[in-house]
Amino acid sequence: MSRSTSDVLVVGGGIIGLVTAWRAAQRGLRVAVADPEPGGGAARVAAGMLAAVTELHYGEETLLGLNLASAARYPDFAAELREATGLDVGFRTSGTLAVALDADDRAHLRELHALQLRCGLASEWLTGRECRRLEPMLAPGVRGGLRVDGDHQVDPRRLAAALVAACERSGVVFHRARADRLAVVRGRATGAVLEDGAEIAAGQVVLAAGSLSGRLGGVPEEVLPPVRPVKGQVVRLSVPGAYAPFLSRSVRAVVRGGHVYLVPRENGELVVGATSEEMGWDTTVTAGGVYELLRDAHELVPGITELPLTETCAGLRPGSPDNAPLLGPSGLPGLHMATGHYRNGVLLTPVTGDVMADVLTTGELPEVARAFTPARFRPVGVS
Ligand code: GLY
Repeated sequence: MSRSTSDVLVVGGGIIGLVTAWRAAQRGLRVAVADPEPGGGAARVAAGMLAAVTELHYGEETLLGLNLASAARYPDFAAELREATGLDVGFRTSGTLAVALDADDRAHLRELHALQLRCGLASEWLTGRECRRLEPMLAPGVRGGLRVDGDHQVDPRRLAAALVAACERSGVVFHRARADRLAVVRGRATGAVLEDGAEIAAGQVVLAAGSLSGRLGGVPEEVLPPVRPVKGQVVRLSVPGAYAPFLSRSVRAVVRGGHVYLVPRENGELVVGATSEEMGWDTTVTAGGVYELLRDAHELVPGITELPLTETCAGLRPGSPDNAPLLGPSGLPGLHMATGHYRNGVLLTPVTGDVMADVLTTGELPEVARAFTPARFRPVGVS
């Protein structure tokens, strides 16, 4: 049984755990990350839309503030990662077009537009013809849409790789094993025991294990984060040179109640996502899931059926009861949360890194993240 000590142990090496580790190391803390496969997790599947405006939902105006704070950080964040690692994360400011295919979709989009304007967001209503002028591959039946130039994209796989490299260069130690159990001594988190038996002692522990965050052994029941897996299936196509430019920006719509989006990358990849399924821990790619994605995407952009299909995959979003993340002190001294980012993990990566570095160095949640304290889910009477 081996023993090592750090100031901070981050349980989970997905993009949220990695950005926490990197930012904490930059503040002079000795940081370790426990994960069998750093840079894996939901970001391997995510399309990487930075869609604070087009993914706005009623009742989520508080989350909107955090999403916008993170979106505003992205240009500098991507540049800093490139400077630190030499790796490009595929940050692209080409914008997003949300379109309607029938009268119901159009009414829904009109309401979204009104909400966006009430929230002071930049979003322009376009007729169907204007949408097609912008994106000639759109179906002739498109009835109107919202042009949001401020909703960008990043490549989550490249982001994860850059964060692993940035952590390595900042002296973060990787333990390539799953954390099995939180170590708690006299009511304080003191590290974790890994599945290979190694004991990692740490002054503070951050639980950043995505959808698995509620499963770490040894965490007292009352502070376990209420995070559940929400399955998303995604299809990847490629756009041969002869078809380029196929789409110049991300295109999305609600079709038969489900969200479908097409995210074109500069390297010719076209990511089509995503299902949203409450299926527990199942990550099977199903014929039905792929069929629905391609059917809905085909209604939006009929030409996709000509494109080579390069990959299908499924991942688990870490859903929380209010669709917003849990950030900061958990109620158990020494244990912090950085989890529950649900549909916004990629978008919220920059602000999460800053917030968690503040928490780990000052013990306080900065103003931008106060509303996301895990205490909002604690049973009444438990401090
Ligand atoms: N934010 C996109 C998704 O979760 O599918």
